[in-house]
Amino acid sequence: MNVTRVKKSKINSVDFKNIVFGKIFTDHMFYCNYRDGKWQTPEITPYKPLTLDPSSSVLHYGQAVFEGMKAFKDNNGLLWLFRPEENFKRINLSAKRLQIPEFPESFFFKGLKSLLKLDQDWVKPGTENSLYIRPFVFASQPSVQASASMEYIFMIICAPVKSYYTGGKINVLIAEEYSRAASGGVGFAKAAGNYAAQFYPTSEALKKGFQQIIWTDSNNHEYLEEAGTMNIFFKIDGTLVTSPTNDRILDGITRKSIIAIAKNDGIQVEERPIKVSELKKAHDDGLLEEIFGTGTAVVVLPIHCFSHQGKSYSLSLETPLALQLKEKLVGIQYNSHEDPFNWRQAVD
Ligand code: COI
Repeated sequence: MNVTRVKKSKINSVDFKNIVFGKIFTDHMFYCNYRDGKWQTPEITPYKPLTLDPSSSVLHYGQAVFEGMKAFKDNNGLLWLFRPEENFKRINLSAKRLQIPEFPESFFFKGLKSLLKLDQDWVKPGTENSLYIRPFVFASQPSVQASASMEYIFMIICAPVKSYYTGGKINVLIAEEYSRAASGGVGFAKAAGNYAAQFYPTSEALKKGFQQIIWTDSNNHEYLEEAGTMNIFFKIDGTLVTSPTNDRILDGITRKSIIAIAKNDGIQVEERPIKVSELKKAHDDGLLEEIFGTGTAVVVLPIHCFSHQGKSYSLSLETPLALQLKEKLVGIQYNSHEDPFNWRQAVD
């Protein structure tokens, strides 16, 4: 791998206290081309704009997938990754569905760890800080033929981040009209287009005061699925319930980690289809104790109100289970809690 370092870091120009999620990027990036039927020698270069042909396939057909992962710094200045092999597996699963060639494991981990070591000063200690890592791959062949590209670019860029959502109460809208994914489609993949397809309905929801939409099944809008940037959990009468993953739902790494932590804590967890009607009835019967979302970016995010068919349903502002599970997860991620699952990986 070729490594070219920046002449002068831009780190001193960054106001780390007031960072907005995903707007500031570190000094370096990882870059690898696919052409002539194989991935070429990767490189790390200073972070810089790309030059793309206007006919580049991704700009026309959206053949692109990505990942979201994080690095954490503990109080001794050591750097940690959380279940990175899961992100690696998932980007190749997403790639396969989008007819993108799989990326070699050794390139991924060597590239990622070298990049993190170069930019480690960008990761600040403290559980309010982390480094969001964005691996992505897109079709770069100059061609408007509607077929899989013969050329791709795989990259990793990194952004120092704080919380994904700033500010208090989270309200969500349960989808009744639009859909995020359909059976047989690409909902399980981190395909770029899955996110683009949510922007219009989400901006309409935002105008009405909802930060996110909980997507329902596209057939009848009857079952609760996921929220686009997070998987969704419901605590009903002491049991934690979440939809099972399927080809419409992202197999969230935070989702499965929270399930494992909850089970380890002796909490009853059910992965089963859950209807909107069941949720509303549980609320009306006083049995709906908590709702929270999970995801790499949001970590564990309590939801305080949901709305369906024009009616709002408020929940308690106290979310002890969400906080308990978040604290355990974050403790593992930041090396301040034992890791009985062996999820934490040192960047050394
Ligand atoms: C993540 O949590 O990594 C996501 O996919 C959310 C992202 C779209 C900001």
